[in-house]
Amino acid sequence: MLQRFDERNRSIKVFIKDRLFSREDAKISVFDSAVQGGDAVWEGLRVYPEGVVCLEKHLNRLKESAHTLAFDDIPSKKFIKNAIRETLEANGMDDDVHIRLTLTRGEKITSGMDPRLNQSGSCLIVLAEWKPLVYDNSSGIKVISSSQRRNGPQFLDSKIHHNNLLNNILAKIQANIAGKDAGLMLDERGFVAELNGSNLFLVKDGILYTPFAHACLPGITRSTVIEICTSNGITVQEADLSLSQFINADGVFATGTMGELTPVIEIDGRKLNREDETMKKVLKLFKNKIRGFCESLT
Ligand SMILES: Cc1ncc(COP(=O)(O)O)c(C=O)c1O
Repeated sequence: MLQRFDERNRSIKVFIKDRLFSREDAKISVFDSAVQGGDAVWEGLRVYPEGVVCLEKHLNRLKESAHTLAFDDIPSKKFIKNAIRETLEANGMDDDVHIRLTLTRGEKITSGMDPRLNQSGSCLIVLAEWKPLVYDNSSGIKVISSSQRRNGPQFLDSKIHHNNLLNNILAKIQANIAGKDAGLMLDERGFVAELNGSNLFLVKDGILYTPFAHACLPGITRSTVIEICTSNGITVQEADLSLSQFINADGVFATGTMGELTPVIEIDGRKLNREDETMKKVLKLFKNKIRGFCESLT
C-alpha cells in the first residue's frame, strides 16, 4: 500500500512555531533538532466534523514524551489547541483529515547533540492534510515478520513517541521489498511487539489478546479498542504473544489513527481468517462508536 499525493493538499497552510506558512514556505532550519538528531516528538491525529479523536490523550502523550526527553518549554495545551484550530480553519478542513503534530526541541546555535545548544525554544509543527484512512479496511493488509526488533525500554523506551523510528522504517523497507503492506516487529525476546506503524490484536475463541505495551507504542486506538470491548462484554487480555499464536488466530487486526482498524489477512504467506464473528463485531462497534471519542478544540 503506497499513499498517493492528494491534489487537495497542494496549497495547504502549515503552522510552524507561531504562525502559518504556505506549503512551499513551510520549512524548518537545518539547525533544528529534528534535522540534527531526530530530536523531536510527535502525534498523529484524526479529525472528524465532531472534533479531534481522543485529543486530550494525544496531547498528554505528546507532553509526556517531551517531558521524558527533558524539553525545556513544552507549549501549553491551550497553545497547541489554538494552533490546531487556526490551521484547520485556514485550510477549511473538518473531515477526512489527518494531522501530523510535531514538537521539535527547536533550533540549535551550532550543530551538535547537546540540548544546551537549543537556545530559542521548542518548535511546534501542525501539518494538517486531507487524508482518508490509509488502508482499505474492507480488503485488509498482508504483513511479513521483520528481522528488525522493536525497541524496548532497555534501549529506547517505546512509550516515548519520538522521531527516531529508524528500526520501524527498516522493517517497512523489508515489507516493501517483499511486496507486503507492513513489517511485523518482534521484541528483543522474540514475542510480537507491533506492526511498523500500528498495534496488533488477535482473536482466539471469542477473546481478544494484544501484546503488553513493553515494546510497542501504547497506541491510543489500541486503548480505545480495549475500552469499547470492555464496555460491550468482550474480554481483552494483554499477553506475551508469539508469531505462531498470531498465525493460528481466529482473526488478527491492526490499530492506529492513520488506518483505524484494519484486518490482517496474511502473515508470512499464511492466510488468515477474516470472518471471525468476534472480530467482525469489534470492527463494527469501533466504526459505530469512534466519533463519540471526538473532542472539540475549544
Ligand atoms: C510505531 C507505532 N505504533 C502504533 C501506532 C498507533 O498509535 P495510535 O493508535 O495512537 O495512532 C503508531 C502511530 O503513530 C506508531 O507510530
